[in-house]
Amino acid sequence: MDTSYLSLEGKIAVITGGSRGIGKAIALTFADAGADVVIASRKLPDLEKVAEDIKATGRKALCVPTHTKKVEDLENLVQKTLDEFARIDVLVNNAATNPAMGPIVDTEESVYDHIMDTNLKGYFMMSKLVGKIMRDQKSGNIINVSSAGGVSPAEGLGPYCISKAGINMLTKQMALEMGPYNVRVNAIAPRIVKTDFSKALWTNEKLMEREFKFTPLKCVATPEEIAQAALYLASSATNYMTGHILVINGGAFF
Ligand SMILES: NC(=O)c1ccc[n+]([C@@H]2O[C@H](COP(=O)([O-])OP(=O)(O)OC[C@H]3O[C@@H](n4cnc5c(N)ncnc54)[C@H](OP(=O)(O)O)[C@@H]3O)[C@@H](O)[C@H]2O)c1
Repeated sequence: MDTSYLSLEGKIAVITGGSRGIGKAIALTFADAGADVVIASRKLPDLEKVAEDIKATGRKALCVPTHTKKVEDLENLVQKTLDEFARIDVLVNNAATNPAMGPIVDTEESVYDHIMDTNLKGYFMMSKLVGKIMRDQKSGNIINVSSAGGVSPAEGLGPYCISKAGINMLTKQMALEMGPYNVRVNAIAPRIVKTDFSKALWTNEKLMEREFKFTPLKCVATPEEIAQAALYLASSATNYMTGHILVINGGAFF
């Protein structure tokens, strides 16, 4: 069977939070599919390890240390990518944070600001910077790693869920604005994925017992399962899809 519609041969992809978890899985999946990959996160040594794995697939890798809360870092990331590759075909906004859990009424303003600045503003500014380039190219593809928490509330995760709901609207709004320029914008909204980010959840047996009562597939996702969905959205398999929030939750009904 010809599956060449999943190929990213000759494409340049930028992935924030590419040093571990979902971002790393996306970077390696995209490289396997033929893309050269730019990975960005705060710690260079972690990025360099992933870059070695990317290069082992025969693709090029560029590491750019970046704090997605800092606009100057995002500008530097875009410039370094253009210096090296001269274009950007796929952007995956993936780096996000959730430093605290608890009810909204007990949330410190500084925690709210940190989550919003890193998650929502970080994705917004990166989409704006790269969107301009894609508009000029008259082609491009933006994938926002959102969360099921952006669609329905999750206990103790108020500011995080609000930031992800904002990312879902950023996705739809940009899809509306960028469609005429041949730029697609979609989001992936996972529930629990087995990464460091959610370790406190998937190692909590009681919580998982409750989770699986309402999850037909009775397991959490792997980073690779999310990466394969990202490849689907990045590829020509989804040429007529934009503004879509792809919920990946094992069928969870809450
Ligand atoms: N895991 C889940 O259950 C789950 C569920 C739904 C949605 N998601 C979403 O999936 C995405 C990836 O999460 P994950 O589970 O893969 O997390 P993870 O394993 O903790 O990895 C996060 C990645 O983002 C980077 N990062 C974190 N803060 C950053 C910042 N301010 N600037 C730049 N890079 C930063 C990290 O590297 P450094 O620390 O070196 O910067 C790392 O590469 C997030 O958007 C998260 O909200 C996760």
